[in-house]
Amino acid sequence: MEKMWSGRFQEGASSLLDEFNASIMFDRRLYKEDIEGSIAHAQMLRKQGIVTLEECDAMINGLQQVLEEIETGVFIWNIADEDLHMAIEKRLTALIGESGGKLHTARSRNDQVAVDFRRYVIRKNLEIAALIKSLMEVIVSMAARHTDTLIPGMTHLQHAQPINFAFHLLAYAAMFERDIERFRQSARRNNISPLGCAALAGTPHNIDRNMTAQALGFEGVSTNCLDTVSDRDFALEMLFNIATMMMHISRLSEELVMWSSYEFGFVELSDAYATGSSIMPQKKNPDVPELLRGKTGRVNGNLISLLTVMKGLPLAYNKDTQEDKEGVFDSIDTAELSLQILREALATMQVKTDAMQRACKIGHLSATDLADYLVVHCNIPFRTAHFITGKAVARAEELGIDISDLSFEELHRIDARIDESVMPKLQLNHSMNARISQGGTATVRTLEQLIYFERYLKELEL
Ligand code: ARG
Repeated sequence: MEKMWSGRFQEGASSLLDEFNASIMFDRRLYKEDIEGSIAHAQMLRKQGIVTLEECDAMINGLQQVLEEIETGVFIWNIADEDLHMAIEKRLTALIGESGGKLHTARSRNDQVAVDFRRYVIRKNLEIAALIKSLMEVIVSMAARHTDTLIPGMTHLQHAQPINFAFHLLAYAAMFERDIERFRQSARRNNISPLGCAALAGTPHNIDRNMTAQALGFEGVSTNCLDTVSDRDFALEMLFNIATMMMHISRLSEELVMWSSYEFGFVELSDAYATGSSIMPQKKNPDVPELLRGKTGRVNGNLISLLTVMKGLPLAYNKDTQEDKEGVFDSIDTAELSLQILREALATMQVKTDAMQRACKIGHLSATDLADYLVVHCNIPFRTAHFITGKAVARAEELGIDISDLSFEELHRIDARIDESVMPKLQLNHSMNARISQGGTATVRTLEQLIYFERYLKELEL
């Protein structure tokens, strides 16, 4: 088959080259952006007197027919056409004849692919932000039911201080809020048009870049054509945004895996989002959170791949850049599916508050409260208070009980300055509600956070 660029070539392409060089198998996903870009370009060429009204009309009608052929599945995607840009132009010319060949005036595939890919990525930034929003809604409404549910707060995966479960969930709401904002900012920052940069240096034709930018929904026009045709920062940002968001999902997934073990027993995933074992009939495995954790590795890889592709490229466009798309598509697909399944798994998950409460009785969670009591009530320096508390912990261990269950007599024997007023302070609920500093776990503070996130979600327009 004759190539569109074959004017200077004497021999035909090898079939291996076709396979190696082509991007049509994956860039066909950009067909809509490509056709819209071509329509905007044709209208601009007409307005600037570069093509006639008849030619412009023919191009637009032809492009609309190509769009329909693609959407109804009758369009023939052929690897020998190399990429979607050439496949569409070739079909257009077959449909409308000579004037199809005028569409590429003042344009190159370099600015064309930059337009298509950039618009696709910008759109996906906002679609992913909307999916995070609906995940956040589930998390926040679950939090609303658990502002009094005690759970051991941990550092180093060791029991540390009692917190409420809503407070724990809202930590993830905070992460997902940052993610949403990151996706929105990327969409805004990168919304400038590459169209009209042509191959690298601009064009001698009297084009109007603002007109096409506006028609395609861009906020403005890029500044330097040489940069624009090889700039893939928008794609890297997308990959970074996804990797960071998936890292958050992975951390939550790790907790879900632990929480659904017998050792924790804090949650039970619904049967619809867990799987069985092929050999052990009793098992219910948390495959969904495990896979979410695993897929995070793969989106991290996509980010590193594109950074590596880009790092050695001289200006301007190089074919290496064609390697930008598959990783981005894969990360986007992975992110979209992950967000939806995590949302469902959380919405249908059973929270076992009794097990959470029981776990709070392990590990002397209110030990810090005894130290704080000694500081405030007995005017003892914190270092000394820490030491005295250590002795109380040792005594509780000796008796095989939690510090919150030590009797007044025991405590008084450890340090005579301790009086009866210590008793309520060591209760777990009291301990949680004592952490009343701004952003802390006390139920009143958690409720403030809850209101903050509820308002954020309500006012968020995407
Ligand atoms: N398929 C190419 C890509 O994805 C389109 C741009 C090709 N430009 C070129 N000068 N060969 O990057």
